[in-house]
Amino acid sequence: MRDYPAAFVERARRSTLLAPFAGHSRTPPPVWLMRQAGRYLPEYREVRAKAGSFLDLCYTPELAAEVTLQPIRRYAFDAAIVFADILVVPDALGQRVAFVEGEGPRLDPIRSERDLGRLIADPGSAKLLAVYETVRRVRAGLSAEAGLIGFCGGPWTVATYMVGGRGTPDQADARLWAYRDPAGFQRLIDLVTELSIDYLRGQIAAGADVVQIFDSWAGSLADDGFTRWVVAPTARIVAALKADHPAVPVIGFPRGAAARLADYVESTDVDGVSCDTSVPLGVMRSLPDDVVVQGNLDPLLLVAGGAALEERVGTLLDAMQGRRFIFNLGHGIVPETPPEHVGRLVRAVRRGG
Ligand code: CP3
Repeated sequence: MRDYPAAFVERARRSTLLAPFAGHSRTPPPVWLMRQAGRYLPEYREVRAKAGSFLDLCYTPELAAEVTLQPIRRYAFDAAIVFADILVVPDALGQRVAFVEGEGPRLDPIRSERDLGRLIADPGSAKLLAVYETVRRVRAGLSAEAGLIGFCGGPWTVATYMVGGRGTPDQADARLWAYRDPAGFQRLIDLVTELSIDYLRGQIAAGADVVQIFDSWAGSLADDGFTRWVVAPTARIVAALKADHPAVPVIGFPRGAAARLADYVESTDVDGVSCDTSVPLGVMRSLPDDVVVQGNLDPLLLVAGGAALEERVGTLLDAMQGRRFIFNLGHGIVPETPPEHVGRLVRAVRRGG
């Protein structure tokens, strides 16, 4: 049994999101969706157009808080996730980050120790402070029952963007650097890990109840690389947060690592684990009882809607019956998702399938 302070267990009675962490059983389970704020919502596109660029939106607390709350108002999700991005950390380190319309993120790639030397970890960066201010505003706009999730990227995943300069299908640049120069690559991982700890601490101090570490490319490493570049930095983040915030659960999302989930959970000491769509329900069920399992509905089922969606929601709820569970997708909502399918999903979860 996880050792949460008594005050947390008490608070968890009134918070739908925290309840499973404290072991309070709940039917239906809490529900929120990764990327629940975003382009599939017309009200998001309106604010996004007003903000200018995606990063301008992330760094304008008034607008970022507004888009964070939009899906809560529309669907009454049990949790809000602060509107920001995992690439806020490289941006705050001084690497140039831009989001190119229709293409995705572009960064000036870090390829050498010299490039690395130009980065500066400043926990007081105005960019990070803007995200903390968004968290404060969202907290003020949420009911007591609704949870607020802060997040960062897993250091490995963030490093794949920093080294590749963009999203890469195979993370080849980062893997090659890690194989050719593990000590140099370790310095990059350490830099990202340390700033991520400060960043999550700042979000917690501003009002985040739970934090999630998004390691979207955790699946691209062999077991020794996974241990060194995914598990070890995650364990360090969890230990640092537990030392000063024992009442804030940490959810890990090692996407693509189904076969290593049990090891990841045990070795990192995360309180919850988010499962991608490829994780078999049997694996989700077999994880230790005191770990909260989250996931793993296919985001494309939410695009398809209809009987296939309803059926799978029922299967997932039945399979997770009696275990600590948070309903979610296996990856983020895609922009093509019809908003009414999201409403139907939430209603299906709440009536039990
Ligand atoms: O879940 C939420 O609602 C919170 C906000 C959030 C965003 N990105 C907003 C966003 C979160 C948690 C993320 C995480 C993130 N960002 C990840 C990890 C999860 C995953 O999806 O694998 C990664 C890898 C990124 C990096 C990133 N950000 C990429 C590759 C892209 C481009 C692809 C795309 O969908 O456009 C983004 C942009 C981004 N981040 C958008 C949003 C809403 C779309 C931006 C827009 O409005 O133009």
